Amino acid sequence: MSKSISGFSKLSKSKKIDWIVDTYFTNKEDAKNILKQYWNSDGKLQRLHDEFIENTISNYYLPLGVAPNFLINNKLHTIPMVIEESSVVAAASKAAKFWLDRGGFKAEVISTIKIGQVHFMYHGDGNNIQKFFNKVKPQLQKDAKFISKNMERRGGGILDIELRDKTSDIEGYYQLHVFFETVNAMGANFINSCLEQFTKTFIREAKNFEGFHSGDDIQVVMSILSNYVPDCLVRAEVSCPIEQLNENENLSGEDFAQKFIQAVKIAEVEPYRAVTHNKGIMNGIDAVVLATGNDFRAVEAGVHAYASRNGTYSSLTHAEIDQGIFRFWMEIPLALGTVGGLTSLHPLVKLSLEMLHKPSAKELMQIVAVAGLAQNFAALRSLITTGIQIGHMKMHLMNIMNQFDVNDNEKTALIEHFKTNIVTYSTVAEAIIMLRVKSE
Ligand code: MEV
Repeated sequence: MSKSISGFSKLSKSKKIDWIVDTYFTNKEDAKNILKQYWNSDGKLQRLHDEFIENTISNYYLPLGVAPNFLINNKLHTIPMVIEESSVVAAASKAAKFWLDRGGFKAEVISTIKIGQVHFMYHGDGNNIQKFFNKVKPQLQKDAKFISKNMERRGGGILDIELRDKTSDIEGYYQLHVFFETVNAMGANFINSCLEQFTKTFIREAKNFEGFHSGDDIQVVMSILSNYVPDCLVRAEVSCPIEQLNENENLSGEDFAQKFIQAVKIAEVEPYRAVTHNKGIMNGIDAVVLATGNDFRAVEAGVHAYASRNGTYSSLTHAEIDQGIFRFWMEIPLALGTVGGLTSLHPLVKLSLEMLHKPSAKELMQIVAVAGLAQNFAALRSLITTGIQIGHMKMHLMNIMNQFDVNDNEKTALIEHFKTNIVTYSTVAEAIIMLRVKSE
């Protein structure tokens, strides 16, 4: 039976491990060794990782792969991707190569506004809260100046503050709805600090506002940024004459394009398909977001909310044929940063950003959106032609072969054999045993 513990966070790292190992593991030495195996031998680097979060006991590695040949707005990129799922990097690379020969990807940032809100309750006269807001608005900006002045120097800051009456949703519920420009920072700390300062000013000034009657108190419920950023939007696109989509002698460019468009249309109207379709897009997006030290949970939450903005969860990508030109595109909200947070702390994040030519946040938005579009193109291309299992099974075969520690000769023979045979754990195991018996 597990036991609870108080003061765990105060224990040293090795005492934390002792407690975990004593409480949960029968083979205590093994458990300890596994945890320690993933420690970095460079003590400074390990300390850095220890301090990213709380109660760190080890490091959890994910592979960092790269997908070369991404031509984006006529500039070539090799895109770093952090992901555990096989085939994703291969698919991205394949899509990049495909579009490299057809003019590459075009991407543009449409808008970069982020939102934060102070949620509060007020049960007095609606006119009075509006009057109070009109009076206090300049003071809100003024009091937050000590937080916003650096951001303003970089071209960003607090763009506007609105009072929003939400009393038709919840009795007495109002918001300060605030618009921010955070330039190259993702901006979460900046936005939250501004909001908490607004809250202080708002409450302080409310006490002195002569228009309020007794009992007209303002109760702030919370002050927090929104990860829904429909006005921090980027568009990525590919296009080419349909003849250039010629897959093979059995599928003309026109047929490929029509089938592709059907697949996208299904994801536009059918939520069961849309979720998987968009999951494939997020394979590309999350991998680059992680490699560049950004917050993939924030991106995921914002993207899926955007995918349901019209009331039904729907495809993020769209496709059409217009006058013989196939066009495939996506608009997606992405709040990303290339300064602050992990970007200057994690050595692999720094390396990834340098590999991407040290992009601005806007450039990173374009690259990430392109990675998502490429991933979706690759997935749909496989799904409407060969199916995806061919690629997956190749990787599955590799993983099983690695588990059996096969040598190079065995590897070549097995790859050949499984070109025409079904890959399962037992068929591969059997084939390996046969090979080994034969060579005895
Ligand atoms: C697998 O991770 C992603 C796909 O299922 C996406 C899709 O179906 O479009 C292949």
